[in-house]
Amino acid sequence: RLMQATLAAGIFSGTALRAACAETSRLVFNADDFTELKKTITTAKGERVVTYRFYKAIPYVSEPIDVAYQSLNISVPVSIDGKRVDSSGSPILFSNSVGGYMPSSVADATGIGGAPMRGLPPTGMQAPPQGVAPTGIGGEVQSGGNAMIAGGKRVSNAELALAAGLTVVEPGARGRTLTDAAGTYYGVAPAAIVDLKAAVKYVRFNKGRIPGDTDRIVSSGTSAGGALSALLGASGDSPLFAPYLEAIGAADASDAIFAVGSWCPIADLEHADMAYEWNWGANPLSTGNTVDQNLSAQLKNGFATYQSSLKLKGLGGFGPLTSANYSDYLLKTYLQPAATQYLAKLSSEDRAAYLTRNPHIRWKANQARFGWTDFLSHVGARKKGLPAFDAFDLSSGENNLFGRDKTKARHFTAFSQTHDTGKTAIDADIPALLDLMNPMFFIGKPNVSTAQHWWIRVGTKDSDTSLSIVGNLAAALSANKRKVNSAMYWDGGHGANEDADAFVKWVSRLNK
Ligand code: DHB
Repeated sequence: RLMQATLAAGIFSGTALRAACAETSRLVFNADDFTELKKTITTAKGERVVTYRFYKAIPYVSEPIDVAYQSLNISVPVSIDGKRVDSSGSPILFSNSVGGYMPSSVADATGIGGAPMRGLPPTGMQAPPQGVAPTGIGGEVQSGGNAMIAGGKRVSNAELALAAGLTVVEPGARGRTLTDAAGTYYGVAPAAIVDLKAAVKYVRFNKGRIPGDTDRIVSSGTSAGGALSALLGASGDSPLFAPYLEAIGAADASDAIFAVGSWCPIADLEHADMAYEWNWGANPLSTGNTVDQNLSAQLKNGFATYQSSLKLKGLGGFGPLTSANYSDYLLKTYLQPAATQYLAKLSSEDRAAYLTRNPHIRWKANQARFGWTDFLSHVGARKKGLPAFDAFDLSSGENNLFGRDKTKARHFTAFSQTHDTGKTAIDADIPALLDLMNPMFFIGKPNVSTAQHWWIRVGTKDSDTSLSIVGNLAAALSANKRKVNSAMYWDGGHGANEDADAFVKWVSRLNK
């Protein structure tokens, strides 16, 4: 900032330049400041004993607003099962632990994957990942990023990447609930994505000092963290973030990344209520009641207009996606293949038992068969009420995400604004904030470097958002010539990550 101000003013005094350089030099990574740690990591191929250098709580901006969040940890593998490894020529995994758009700090972690979430989202906002005990480190949910179970143990993408010989960066980021002494919200949109971009810039700025290929940074995250991971990948070097990045003293380097892993992204928030009613509108709540079907139908109509406006072709040559053919698209592209893969892996006894327990699913000629209403019945209760995101009473986490100054929560759709207040207009600054938070906004835009490679996953029983969110993200990327590996986990719930080993293998093999 100082450097730019100096240049803009046309002043090249030695003092100002020295000050600018001092500011930047604070962001130079010190490779000597580490603790050597050892960790046994359970991979699909058995246990690996990994010795690694742990670099803890490094501030990644020169003018942090809250250094507890604007810091990152780095883990560099030194040896695996006693054999020395060198991660300097390999991709770097950039693994965020954001959940619920809440603040996420790595400052107190004592090793890789140890970042606890600071506080939990309100009840109902976040379920534990499937198959994972609801209490993790410190009794908190989903700490340390997305995880799968190997040999009965919880293993995160970060740990598996380390065990595969990769450098792992774990960034903290501000989140929606943070307030200062005056009661001002300083972690609301777009703080979290600004911070993640600043953290990428820090890694790039330290090319050659942090072991790893800074041209192959691969982001990973789940749910809100999955949305931010996708946003990071979609919006690389967008000039729209420049003022925010300047304000916190981000390093002068690109924030474009090479690849993205995104699990159950809670993205496209301004269309998420409509998409939700299209997908889960008829499903009962956990109480057994259905939501107001008239309101649900109104939102569903909005989805039809929105989906047609995208003019988006599906994967595999599927014609332009509309609200009318979308269920067919999901069935053919994702749902039936997921169920088929799941059932094919079971023994014939287990498969028969599953089919007896799940009467909406049929098995014929080694293929799972079912229609859309069968599928909806199979999933059962919807997780969220109506509207799922922009709550009429401003009670959702997303309402808080779009808070400002001392206002905790605001509406971000005309539909909910009207319902609540009778006036249709949302606050004038909200549309630009929605853009900054939406990966869909950046895909196909000029002026951005969108990641080339994408790994996108969601569980078929995850009703935290509409399955069309993943469907559209994958389709939009593919239409823009990005390489997309997208799939759904049959019967997987919110946060499911059932093929983390395959993800890490995919990362290791990605070439420029
Ligand atoms: C998360 C879950 C939600 O249902 C949501 O609306 C936002 C975030 C999460 O788990 O991160």
